[in-house]
Amino acid sequence: MISVVFVCLGNICRSPMAELIFSKLAAERAPQLALDITSRGTSDEEEDNPIYPPAAKVLREHGITGAHRARQLTKREVVNADYVLVMDSSNLFDVLRLTGGMFSDKVFKLCSFTSRPRDVADPWYTRDFEGAYRDILDGCEGFLRYLLNRYGNK
Ligand code: 4NP
Repeated sequence: MISVVFVCLGNICRSPMAELIFSKLAAERAPQLALDITSRGTSDEEEDNPIYPPAAKVLREHGITGAHRARQLTKREVVNADYVLVMDSSNLFDVLRLTGGMFSDKVFKLCSFTSRPRDVADPWYTRDFEGAYRDILDGCEGFLRYLLNRYGNK
């Protein structure tokens, strides 16, 4: 089992979008991979809240739905994960602060798996939920390509 945790700040916009987008892509394109896919926030600000409605709306417009409640990331979850995929540099800093700098070898920015490494800007502030969707989809496609190369593309 390959365990993947997507991480953003609040766990109500970007990381749940990534969880649902990646789950759909993986089910469609890589059913042979045994994946455990979840998402977390570095903050507890939104604990237990559902996906932010504008983020859920963009997902729905792209044919993606799913249940979600926000949860804060714990150090144990980083220890147990194979891949911790953060959305931006601030998330990366916060995850490494949580671990005391350990496990940096499994923490990646999602869009580092694309031909154009970049942050996924926070749509909570930019209000550009479609742009976030496109960046996250690009990152998820790149990450899935990486997994298929590494773990077998049958
Ligand atoms: P996310 O967006 O990190 O993509 O889930 C945010 C959601 C909520 C807050 C910040 C960012 N907030 O400050 O409550």
